[in-house]
This record gives sequence, C-alpha cells and structure tokens, in this order.
Amino acid sequence: MTLPARPSAEGKQTAGGQPAARSRLEQLRAELADHDYRYYVLDEPVIADVQYDALMRELQAIEAEHPEWIRSDSPSQRVGGKARSELGEISHAVPMLSLANAFDAEEVAAFDRRVSDALRASGTLAADGEVEYACEVKLDGLAISLRYHDGLLVQAATRGDGQTGEDVTANVRTIRAIPLRLREPVAGVVEVRGEVLMFRGDFDALNQAQGERGQKVFINPRNAAAGSLRQLDPQITRQRPLRFFAYGWGQLDHPPSATRHSAMLDWLAGLGLPAEPMRQVVRGLDGLLGFYRRIGDARRALPYDIDGVVYKVDSLPAQQQLGFVSRAPRFALAHKFPAEEVNTELLDIEIQVGRTGALTPVARLKPVFVGGVTVTNATLHNEDEIRRKDVRIGDTVVVRRAGDVIPEVVAPVPALRPADAREFVMPSHCPVCGSGIERLEGEIIARCTGGLFCAAQRKQALTHAAGRRALDIEGLGEKLVDQLVERGRLQTLADVFTLTAEELAGLDRMGPKSAQNLIEAIDRARQPTLGRFLFALGIRHVGEATARDLARHFGSMEALLGAPADDLLQVPDVGPVVAASVAHFLGEPHNREVIHALLSQHGVAPRPEPLQVRGAALAGKTFVLTGTLHDWTRDEAAQKIVAAGGKVTGSVSRKTSYVVAGDDAGSKLVKARELGVVVLDEAGLRQLLES
Ligand code: IVH
Repeated sequence: MTLPARPSAEGKQTAGGQPAARSRLEQLRAELADHDYRYYVLDEPVIADVQYDALMRELQAIEAEHPEWIRSDSPSQRVGGKARSELGEISHAVPMLSLANAFDAEEVAAFDRRVSDALRASGTLAADGEVEYACEVKLDGLAISLRYHDGLLVQAATRGDGQTGEDVTANVRTIRAIPLRLREPVAGVVEVRGEVLMFRGDFDALNQAQGERGQKVFINPRNAAAGSLRQLDPQITRQRPLRFFAYGWGQLDHPPSATRHSAMLDWLAGLGLPAEPMRQVVRGLDGLLGFYRRIGDARRALPYDIDGVVYKVDSLPAQQQLGFVSRAPRFALAHKFPAEEVNTELLDIEIQVGRTGALTPVARLKPVFVGGVTVTNATLHNEDEIRRKDVRIGDTVVVRRAGDVIPEVVAPVPALRPADAREFVMPSHCPVCGSGIERLEGEIIARCTGGLFCAAQRKQALTHAAGRRALDIEGLGEKLVDQLVERGRLQTLADVFTLTAEELAGLDRMGPKSAQNLIEAIDRARQPTLGRFLFALGIRHVGEATARDLARHFGSMEALLGAPADDLLQVPDVGPVVAASVAHFLGEPHNREVIHALLSQHGVAPRPEPLQVRGAALAGKTFVLTGTLHDWTRDEAAQKIVAAGGKVTGSVSRKTSYVVAGDDAGSKLVKARELGVVVLDEAGLRQLLES
C-alpha cells in the first residue's frame, strides 16, 4: 500500500498544490507555536528539539517558495531587521513601578497590619478576617513590558526609569517563551509585565561557549540576561537562551472579568504567556511567612535565581482601595532573602583615593563566589571600622554581598587567625602622590591633601566631570582618563577641551572613528546647563540638585564668581556647610583659573538653568482627549493634565505623547493607532497623574 504523499514545500505533488501548501503552512505555524507553548508555559514538551527543527525547516521552505505568505507572527519570523546603532525610547502607557522591600518578619507583620487595618476600616474585610495574598517569587532578571495589539505582539520595552524604557521589540521577538500572537484573540491592547531572565544551567553553558570562543563571559545570569536583551543586534539576542515569566499587566483595553490578581495570572497563562511558576494564594501573616520559608528551602533547587518573594493583596478592588505611595503600591511587598555570606582570606588592605581625596581602605581578598559574582575586593569603609571589627591582614573573614550592593567585610573569624596576622596602619602620606594625609577633628575619613595635584583625585574628578549627569562627554570614561592623566596630558578639566582627534586616535582601544566621535562629544559639552557645569566642577557637598539651585539663583557663572560668600546662604536649601564648601572652592586661585580658562579660552558657555515648574510630572507631554470618559468630563481631565505640567491639543500627530480614549472614541483613536501613539484609558491617565 502506498501512503498519500505529504505535501512537499513546493506543494506540487498534489492536485491544486497551492492550497495544500497553504494549509500545511498554517498547520506548521500552529504546531510550532503549540510546541513553544507546551515547552515554555506548560513545561510539558511532547517533541524533541530535532523534530521541532525539522518542522521549522519545512515551514521555512514553504515560506521561501511563497514569500507573499509570510506574516510577522510566523514562528520563522522571530528574527528580522538588522543591527541598530541605538535602542529607541518608549514611554510606558502605564508607569512601571517598583516594590517596597522588607528584610525581616517584623516588617512583613507591619505590612499585613497596615493592609488589614485599612481594609477593615473601609468595611472590605471582616473584623476578624484575614487578607488573602497572591505570593510569587521575586525573579532576579529584568523587568519588561510586552504590548499586544489585537493579539499580535507589537512592542516590548525595558522598565527604564519607570516612565520611559528602551525599545527592545526586535530582541524580544527572538525569545521563544514569548508568544508572537496570543492563543486567544483579545481586542485592543493587552500589556503584559514580567521578567526576562536566564536559567542557571543555560547561563553556565553560554559562558562555557563564550569562553571557548574567546568571547566575554558574564558575571551572573541576570547580567547575561540584561546584556542579551539590550543587544543592538537581534541576531545575537537570538542565540542567547532567554526566558520570560509574567507577573502583572499594564494597559488592558478589554480586561477579563477576573477580580483577583491570581485569576489574572491564570488568564495570562491561558493566553499563552508563561506566568510566574511558583505562585500561590495564602491567608494572613502566617500564610506569608510560610510561603517565604517554603521558597527559601526550595530556592537552590529552582533552575533560576530569585532574590526574595513578593506578596500582593489578591483582591483587585482591595488593591485599588489601598493605592500607591510615591513609586510603589501599598498593596504589595518584596520580602528579600538575607544577603549571602561566605568566608575567605584577607590577603592585604590597600588604600583607594577618592575624588575628594577620601582614603578608603579596601580589602584584597582571595577570590570567592558570593551573591552571584566572584569577589576579589571589598570595602572596609574606614580606619575606625577596621579597629572596631578587629580585622587583621591574614585573617579569614566573612564577606557579604547582596544584590548589586558593594561587597563588604563583615567580621574576622578569630578562631582561624594565623599567628602572623598583621594590624592595619593608616599611612601618613598619600600612596599615590605622597602628599600629607589629614584627618580633621570629629571626622572619620582621612583625606589626601594633594587636591588636583594628586593623580588619583584628578582622574576621578575628570571622570566625574565627563559623566552622564555632568558634562555628558560620551566616550571619555575611566580607562581613557587614566591613560591621559598618566601621559600628563590632562592636568585640569580645561585640558579636555584641547584634545585633538589625532592624538586620541593613537591611544589604546581608540581608532580614528571613536576619536572623532569623542571630539564631537567634547564639542557638544561646550554648552552645558549652568547646573551641569557646576556639578561637573566636583565641589564637595554640591550634588546635582544643589548645583541646579545655585544655577537658578545666580543665573550665570560670572554672577556666582562675583558673589560675596554670604549670598550663598540665600540660595534655597543651601546651609552653612555647603556655603562654606562652595566659597572655599571658588576662593582657590587654582580653581578660578581653570574656570576662567574654560569660559574664556575654550568656548565653554553654560546655558541658563531651565526654570523648574512645580509638580511638572507631565512637563513636555502632549495629550489628546477623545471619547466619553466616566469619572471626569474631558475638560476636567484636561485641567488635571495642565496642572501637572502637560499640554492638551485637539489633533493627533506623531508628536502627541498620549491619546486618552474614553467610550466610543473614533477617528482620533484610529489615527493614534496608525501612528503608534500610546493610548491610555481613564484608569491609565489617573495612574499617570498619580505617579
Ligand atoms: S510586581 C507594582 N512581581 O521587582 C510592582 N515584580 O522592585 C510591579 N520582580 O521591577 C512589580 N519578580 O523587575 C513583581 N513576582 C514579581 C517580581 C517582580 C521580580 C521585579 C521587577 C520589578 C522589581 C520591583
């Protein structure tokens, strides 16, 4: 017996080959998407990788024959487009907030008390009732927002500052755990929030392969996930084993009828999204602490890193009642695991010289893996701290590292102290420049008195001045500054403006192109705002906010230089310590010389500091209101937007930041969709205003 031939890619073997190929194509697309769903969401794969690959090749062959049939949500179309020169920006329709943290059971108890008291007071919870919480693990990856429109993945953005993130759509499309199309059709926008991460096993394999190819190895899975997601070339992201778990949502045009967070996550899972896998609903404080304990026990066996658990009030109406404080919801809490601690050997204590001359003793450690990274240095803070802890060179010490925090030496292990352990003695002269060291009465920090004569201070002062929040000279980083200072080419900030492309091109890791880019960046830095210019000078006690206050008060550098010291105290938020520091800095002839050189010889011309509008949360944002709103009239909504610093206009263009659409919105909504303008509903607008 002969079996009927399976339609080949060409679809020529059956009569009417085109329809057969077409239906095989649809079948392959559905099957491949289904296998992704089984693998990433259900965790129950039913075919081996080789079979999956064979299906994919068959699909690609049909699509190669019929390019007119290719659709953006085809499983073959996960990588498209070329490498970009930078990632674009996306402003979030609903801000991405953060969570308040708790580190012990008492803080959790206080959270549960606050929540239950508030819900009892409003009659939402019975007098003796317990709150139900949706518990999840706190995934240690990168927050991301996925935007589906009519079921199709159209956009993906990182969290960024919570209001605006980076456009990582092309990269996210390569992550197989993220469906290109939802399994159920949902009209309008569905925004899914969750975490992109890398499993530990995948991370180890990736690092091994990177090492073998002589490429960069990553510090830990989170770092690898972040680096992979923010790649400029999606071809590279595609080769990185990224995963995704959903734990929330943003804008929803047609939310389901669910009234619980837990039910919402089940809904997302039904749409084909991998929802947070350890989730569980519990009751009251005992339930919370029980979950924390269980997860703590299971933590090492999980295939991915977590840094705590998250508690969320399960009832959505109750969540709404509780609302938000500043940038975090009152209805949720992250309960962090304690920082990891390990023992290692203290090989030596060296002195690091900071930007303002502060001398910090740094522990040189026998390399040890703690908190997800290999640690070789840790801060010892200051001399007194070393005495208080009685840490000696040669000791076995306890080292702690939590999250992104700088590792620290907690204590020595006295029982393991060798006979030749040495006490640390603060040097009397700066180890970099040989200048004297002073420790003022009542201060715990010892300082090098060399000022900008000290190469260590000069390097850091220059790196600070070039930094993103100061003159923002892209490309002038620590390594380059080090080289230039060591060659004696940078004595003061003014020297930066005399650099030439030719001399830069001759330095390590520099080519003609990057040298030219740097020269252009230096050129752009000639017109900083006055606040940035002042901040760049690195005056002790003058942070960004104080620099802006000074800039607004005096208006120009000349006015500030000419002002009597007493005038400084007239500046809002400037007290005697800051005033004295500014007066001292500006009184130094050397500093005045550098400032004069910058302004009169090198064409640096600070611009007046823009005025601050009070409560201008929406400054620079343009809104169009359309359709019927529920709780506000359009006029009321407009007034609130204007009060928050935003602008309301009548027609939608590419420049519109948000379209707020109520019921029966018509052509403006259509236009917004066409132009890709962010569409908010009333709740979204409210959240934006409240944030
Ligand atoms: S909820 C409104 N749930 O933690 C709060 N966040 O500090 C929205 N994270 O940026 C976040 N696992 O990257 C939530 N199960 C989880 C989480 C989680 C990890 C991260 C997320 C967020 C940060 C908040």
